[in-house]
Amino acid sequence: MLSGKSVLLIIGGGIAAYKCLDLIRRLKESGAQVTPVLTRAAQEFVTPLSVSALAGTKAYTDLFDLTDEAEMGHIQLSRSADLVVVAPATADLMGRMTGGLASDLATTLLMATDKRVLIAPAMNVRMWDHPATQRNLAQLQADGVLVVGPNEGDMACGEFGPGRMAEPLEIVDAIADALGKRPLSGKHILITSGPTHEPIDPVRYIANRSSGAQGSAIAQALMRLGAEVTFVTGPASAARPVGATVVEIQTASQMLDAVTAALPADAAIFAAAVADWQVIGQSASKIKKDSKGSLPRLEFAENPDILSTISKLKKNRPSLVVGFAAETDDVIENATAKRKRKGCDWILANDVSPETGIMGGVENQVTLISADGAEDWPRMPKADVSTRLAAKIAETLT
Ligand code: C5P
Repeated sequence: MLSGKSVLLIIGGGIAAYKCLDLIRRLKESGAQVTPVLTRAAQEFVTPLSVSALAGTKAYTDLFDLTDEAEMGHIQLSRSADLVVVAPATADLMGRMTGGLASDLATTLLMATDKRVLIAPAMNVRMWDHPATQRNLAQLQADGVLVVGPNEGDMACGEFGPGRMAEPLEIVDAIADALGKRPLSGKHILITSGPTHEPIDPVRYIANRSSGAQGSAIAQALMRLGAEVTFVTGPASAARPVGATVVEIQTASQMLDAVTAALPADAAIFAAAVADWQVIGQSASKIKKDSKGSLPRLEFAENPDILSTISKLKKNRPSLVVGFAAETDDVIENATAKRKRKGCDWILANDVSPETGIMGGVENQVTLISADGAEDWPRMPKADVSTRLAAKIAETLT
């Protein structure tokens, strides 16, 4: 996502500095080059050695040394990157930035740079709420500085509130946004997830055991690449993806209505385990147990096939429609036939036979079936399946 981009990372002196080690790893994974700079206070929390080992390059400190000035002057260092990131941006660093001080290497670089600056503030909640910090924040934003976080939560100092530094992946996303590098920016993707509940009467229903975990993970992976996601979900136990437009439904028919209302979309991914049948003539009141022991008889009607309906739309069909196929035998043959029958572009097929340990497990082994044939993906954690799927979607849509 960030290949060919270079980030000058200024690490401030706060406990959140430890998260910068992970941030450097994540940035490297995204293909970015990272040049780290540590303030004197930052070196109390993380060492230049660990930072430079992870970055794979020299870590600059506020101890100016002449060799560096000969090899690379501070002006050049401040301009060599595509973006300057300050993480954690402490109250002190924010204050010095606002005041235009150049009292050490970090602040000198911030004054000399001609690139955009992104800060990830982190400090005690009282310090964050302090009028001076809020005034500094407003001024920095007015000066064009970009801000990610802080988040609300438990803090290392034992207090609770806003002040936690944004998580490394959130910072990577903000960096990608700042550099206009998110491949799915401006794309709208629709995802169905979870089970559906088909009512028998006002208190009883027919359901299945889908948790919605795979759908939520796919939504998160797509949003990380910049997509705008509409997430149509049945009553699933998995956490809803933060940042998506979430539409909660109960039945398959409601799911179809919600999906149709969310169109147009660039892609649609049908990860929901939709009930195949609904109960005909649902009772408006709770069905009573018969004192004579006669049992209720349920009659069923077929539910709409949402994947097939959307795949066959003449108008507003998303340019990429993806379905899932959980099979126990002849996985590839069955899934290939399903792709044709339903009219979707891709099917992600997997073998859910008990001996695979996939159902309810943390790993998955899928085969992607498209018009080009079958592509076997290695067995990997389910979260990685989502990341790989999102990358493949990005490649296809852009
Ligand atoms: O037919 P089957 O249930 O095996 O197909 C699975 C795929 O079809 C999944 O992508 C599922 O979300 C979708 N589906 C649907 N509506 C249905 C049944 C399945 O969208 N009524």
